[in-house]
Amino acid sequence: MMATSLGATLSLLKVRGPVRIFCRYRYKKKWATSYVGPSGPRLALQYFDMNYSAQFGDVWPSVRIGLLSEQKYGALINHFSGTEDTAHRLGSLGVTDFLQEARTAEAESPGTMSEALRSSRITCYTFPRGDISRFPPARSSPLGLLEYYLLDAASLLPVLALNVRPEHRVLDLCAAPGGKTLALLMEDCRYLGVNDASISRSNRLRRVLHSYVPPERRTEERLRVTTWDGTQWGEEGLYDRVLVDAPCTTDRHSLHHEDNNVFSRLRVRERQRLPLLQTHLLLSGLRAVVPGGDVVYSTCTLSTLQNECVVEGALGLAASEYGVHAEVQDLRSVREIFSRTFNFHLECRIGELVLPQLTANYGPLYLCKLRRLR
Ligand SMILES: C[S@@+](CC[C@H](N)C(=O)[O-])C[C@H]1O[C@@H](n2cnc3c(N)ncnc32)[C@H](O)[C@@H]1O
Repeated sequence: MMATSLGATLSLLKVRGPVRIFCRYRYKKKWATSYVGPSGPRLALQYFDMNYSAQFGDVWPSVRIGLLSEQKYGALINHFSGTEDTAHRLGSLGVTDFLQEARTAEAESPGTMSEALRSSRITCYTFPRGDISRFPPARSSPLGLLEYYLLDAASLLPVLALNVRPEHRVLDLCAAPGGKTLALLMEDCRYLGVNDASISRSNRLRRVLHSYVPPERRTEERLRVTTWDGTQWGEEGLYDRVLVDAPCTTDRHSLHHEDNNVFSRLRVRERQRLPLLQTHLLLSGLRAVVPGGDVVYSTCTLSTLQNECVVEGALGLAASEYGVHAEVQDLRSVREIFSRTFNFHLECRIGELVLPQLTANYGPLYLCKLRRLR
């Protein structure tokens, strides 16, 4: 029996005066090896409160509420599905194509994204600001392909920033489960290399490709799926565009899900090593792209250590270790063009960061574009 319940019993029995509690009734907390401790989401929130309140100052409370609230989705239209009425049906829900809106904004103040935006074939519907309605599940078209893919609309920004053209060879280095891969396929390119080190996640990616992409577009000459370690990438100077959508602390996932939570007690070392892994993946991307080609580095964390610091570290190492020189490209126009749809952080030293906020609860999404010079 615990000391407290013993005390309660004695008071019920109306025992007065000092009470001696025998040793055997004293409660002592046991720190056995089986003690599990606070859950992953709780540890994640503690960590974010400590680090992000310093990083974001007054902005953190509103970002925190956004992160803890339900995320908003966009519907990436599958142009391969062959259905004509998807746009009409979705339009009746009150959604609009945020890229079309961005084109209108861009016409007023043309910038470096103009060309990418004009030539992009991506269509993605989103509900208006402040509207938290959900999309119905995608239907299968008569061709047996799903009509749209639901994803965080901000995750299309790295694909748009890549500015993929039909003559390009493109590498998606960390691709599973495949949202950005599908967007890259909508853009059309000569060849797409799709890679992810995780076999189970790559199998999920393969299932996504089967559900969205017709077999004639999945031939080996145009699309290759590999499960290699991206840090050991062997191909040098082969691609015109490389997307490095790196593994990270996946801030939103970590706050909401216990499973596969990188803040769990058993994954401390893995979490601490993330910036190193990210730096090596970005290094591989910089080596795999041709001189004059572009690499986009992206994550879904707010952490400066995993974003700006990784970019700076990889740029330094690429030059000193491999003689690969690259420079950061200005993406301010992304912020200007898409500010109607997303909330951007205004104080990013390098790259751009979409901040979750209740009015437009997308992100976090960090992106930085690098051009290899030599
Ligand atoms: C942020 S997720 C990618 C999300 C994906 N781009 C999308 O849009 O659906 C990061 C991915 O990196 C993969 N990954 C982790 N370490 C890797 C490595 N060394 N090489 C290649 N991929 C790796 C993980 O398996 C995970 O699927």
